[in-house]
Amino acid sequence: MERLNRFLARSGVASRRAADELIASGSVRVNGEVPPPSGILIDPDRDEVTVDGRAVKPLTRHRYLMLNKPLGVITTAKDEGSRTTVLDSVGNEGAAGHRLFPVGRLDADTTGLLVLTDDGDLAFRLTHPRYKVAKEYLAVVAGSPGERDMETLRRGVDLEDGKTAPAEVEVVGFDGSVGAGRTEVRMVIREGRHRQVRRMLQAVGHHVQSLRRTGFGPLKLGRLKVGGWRVLSEGEIEALRRAVRIEPR
Ligand code: URA
Repeated sequence: MERLNRFLARSGVASRRAADELIASGSVRVNGEVPPPSGILIDPDRDEVTVDGRAVKPLTRHRYLMLNKPLGVITTAKDEGSRTTVLDSVGNEGAAGHRLFPVGRLDADTTGLLVLTDDGDLAFRLTHPRYKVAKEYLAVVAGSPGERDMETLRRGVDLEDGKTAPAEVEVVGFDGSVGAGRTEVRMVIREGRHRQVRRMLQAVGHHVQSLRRTGFGPLKLGRLKVGGWRVLSEGEIEALRRAVRIEPR
């Protein structure tokens, strides 16, 4: 059940305060009846709400979060007993009563951008190979990959489950102060095979020391701190929908 003014606000009809005024003015009906000016609780799934005779539909009943997944936290919607999952990371406050699940996976030893939602249609498309959603990673690798390695990664490397599709790859930093040095590599892939980034870099001889996802389709991780989460904006949700060719609302 949900307060009528909240439902109206969520549906884009008016702010909550203005929705109270609309209710008091008698413009709003619930199942054909004028509710009391103090408002009422409605069942958004069953009750029909109209404003001046026009049906009101919420923009979305789904919830969409971005999490900066910490190290060691596992990407699953199942109860894993003692192991910390991404659902534990967002907690009850994040879920807000929704049955969230992660969109795609990150390894336990990968940090970064993970979307959680209860929108099955959008999640299905975002992870379907057909839509080739871009995933951006920053990897710190041992040593210093040369231009030939980079070209190989760009064109596709032979892995045991087949050759990878073309990827964007560039060196973004080098730290020569440790051992033989380590290099930060930015990589954008449009597939999502198991441990793909690690295996691609290993295939050209550079072990991945740490891996962070910084972009997912149109979304950027930005300054969200590790372990932090936030609700996606309407604009971000719309951009995700566009990325998988769902009609704009
Ligand atoms: N590639 C990997 O190797 N690991 C991830 O978690 C994601 C992509």
